[in-house]
This record gives sequence, C-alpha cells and structure tokens, in this order.
Amino acid sequence: MKILVTGGCGYVGSVLIPKLLSDGHSIISVDTKWFGDYLPKHKNLKNIKLDISNISNLKIDKLDCCIHLASIANDPMAELDKSLSWETSALNTYNLMEFLKKLKTKRIIYASSGSVYGISKKSKVTENTPLKPISLYNKVKMVTERVILSYSRSIETFIVRPATVCGYSPRMRLDVTVNALTFSALQNKEIKVFGGKQVRPNIHIDDLCDIYRFFLKTNKKNTGIYNAGFENKSILDIAKFIKNIIPSKINIFKDLSDPRSYRLDSTKIIKIGFKPRKTIRHAIDEISEKYSNRILKQQDNFHSLKWLKKIIKKN
Ligand SMILES: NC(=O)c1ccc[n+]([C@@H]2O[C@H](COP(=O)([O-])OP(=O)(O)OC[C@H]3O[C@@H](n4cnc5c(N)ncnc54)[C@H](O)[C@@H]3O)[C@@H](O)[C@H]2O)c1
Repeated sequence: MKILVTGGCGYVGSVLIPKLLSDGHSIISVDTKWFGDYLPKHKNLKNIKLDISNISNLKIDKLDCCIHLASIANDPMAELDKSLSWETSALNTYNLMEFLKKLKTKRIIYASSGSVYGISKKSKVTENTPLKPISLYNKVKMVTERVILSYSRSIETFIVRPATVCGYSPRMRLDVTVNALTFSALQNKEIKVFGGKQVRPNIHIDDLCDIYRFFLKTNKKNTGIYNAGFENKSILDIAKFIKNIIPSKINIFKDLSDPRSYRLDSTKIIKIGFKPRKTIRHAIDEISEKYSNRILKQQDNFHSLKWLKKIIKKN
C-alpha cells in the first residue's frame, strides 16, 4: 500500500514507520520535524519536512491510506499557543481531508486521544460514554474527530482513542507517565508523583503501532471509533510498580495540575480481532535496557513541552 503518515517523525511515528516498511508498504512521511528526525533511510520511504497546512503542495497522484498523527500532542503543550493548537490539529485536518478526498484516498486512521473523556468515575469508559473534554488539547481532539467523521461518506474512517503510550522510541518522549517515572527512577533514584489517585489507562507503543497496522487491513464494515488502552492504573500504583523493579523512593506532591482520570474499556477493538501483546512491565524493562546500554540518555528534545516552548519563541 501507499501510505501517507503525518507526524511521522514523532514518538509513535518513529516506531510505526519502520514496522510499516518491513510490512512492505511505501511510505510518505510529512512532519515539521520539531523534535528531530530519527527515521531510517529506506528505498520505500519519502521523508519530507512539511507543515500539513501546506499539504496541497505535496506532489502525489495516488494514496491508499493516511495515518494521521500530526498534532500538538499533550495538554500543557496545547496551552502554549491556543490558536496554533487549533490550526495545527483541527484546521489543518480539514485541509488534509480535502487533499485526501481529491486523491480518492480509500482510508484514514486518526490518532485522537482517550483523554477526550476527561474525568469519569465510571468503571468502564466505552466509546459510547459522552465526551467531557476538560482541556484545550481534549477539545481540539474532539473537534478534529468530528471534522474527520464528516468525510466518512467518501473515506473509510477509523478513529483511535489511545491511552497514554509507554515504551521506548528513538524519538523518545519523557513527558508521558510510565516513561517519565521510569526514567526518573533510573536517573535520580526518585519518583515524583503529583496527586497520584488519578486513574490513567496505558498502552504499549508496539501495541498501538499494531493497532494502526490492524486497521490498514481490517474490513471496511469495521469503520468507527475505538478506544485503545489495556491497563488502567492510578499514577501512584504505577510509581509503586516501578519502585519494585528499579530501586528508588517515591515523593508525593499535592499539586494536581493534571486531574484527568478515567478508565478506558477497549472491549470493542478486541471483539473485532485485535490482541494486545505487551504491558507496562515490558515498557519499563525495555526503557531500563536502553538506559543501561546508554542508547537512551537525557535529551532536551525528549521533553516536548520545554522544547516546543523554545520553537514557538524562535518563530
Ligand atoms: N503519546 C501518547 O501518549 C499519545 C496518547 C494519545 C494520543 N496521542 C496522539 O498520537 C499522535 C502522535 O503522538 P506522539 O506521541 O507521537 O507525539 P509527537 O509530538 O512525538 O509527534 C507529533 C509529530 O507531529 C509533528 N507535527 C506537529 N504539527 C505538525 C504540522 N502542522 N505538520 C506536520 N507535522 C506536525 C511534530 O513535529 C511531531 O513530530 C498525536 O496526534 C497525539 O495527540 C498520543
């Protein structure tokens, strides 16, 4: 298949694209490359530095599918520049959809976010649970879903609502829960927990990439919205779990700047045949191994918020 991946140089894209290449697909990656470029060179990969607001400049005549990952990708980053967040994620998605429609692209797979549910005390948050987005990031994701769904008559539409992703990527993110707490335990022998009672769902990066690969092949009758998270745990329980593996101490702070709390139920995707293979434990072990082999080190561009602040200031 010929696949356009937006945001291909990001944390998820950097793991996904090598897998798609080894599946035999031809890939065009478009990315502003804010956080660098860790994609391998490959005869079937066109790796283009491009803002998707200029997607109509891309010279291609045919596409089978688009996996749309480009976005400002967490709550505090979205607050940095509100209009940039709406433009990057929602408005640009409209431009992208028009472009895909012109090319008669068959299918789009969109990386939304499980955080569109906001705060929910329900024991099971399914795809039918009403959305209560509590941050700008959540609102942008919710509206972008609607933009994409409005094209579902002409393009087969798959919306994925991933949990917080964990695990190693060459473009590492040290701002997502399991990765951040594991890295801090390894480097500082200390795990800082803010609040701690918030329950968050988690997904291993390999499982999420496998979901995108699964949706490339699945029957078009399965179009729709899917939760993607297989381990719901409180932040404090994640910290305790890490402490049992990596000797460290936990310090709890009362600050609750990020109150999002919900338990994802992903039965729907399992019912259509997807099987997760990995867990938080795999992510911790893989990150620890990369750290002890000195492949994973402290790097400023692995802290997305601080790094994006610098980029916005420069422009
Ligand atoms: N990582 C997670 O825990 C998580 C959880 C749920 C959903 N998601 C979603 O998955 C997607 C990928 O997340 P990620 O963790 O890889 O984030 P990331 O920030 O590492 O990757 C996003 C990429 O998009 C690029 N980008 C941003 N705006 C662009 C634009 N206008 N044009 C072209 N490229 C642009 C950035 O340079 C970056 O490389 C995002 O949409 C994110 O919201 C991520």
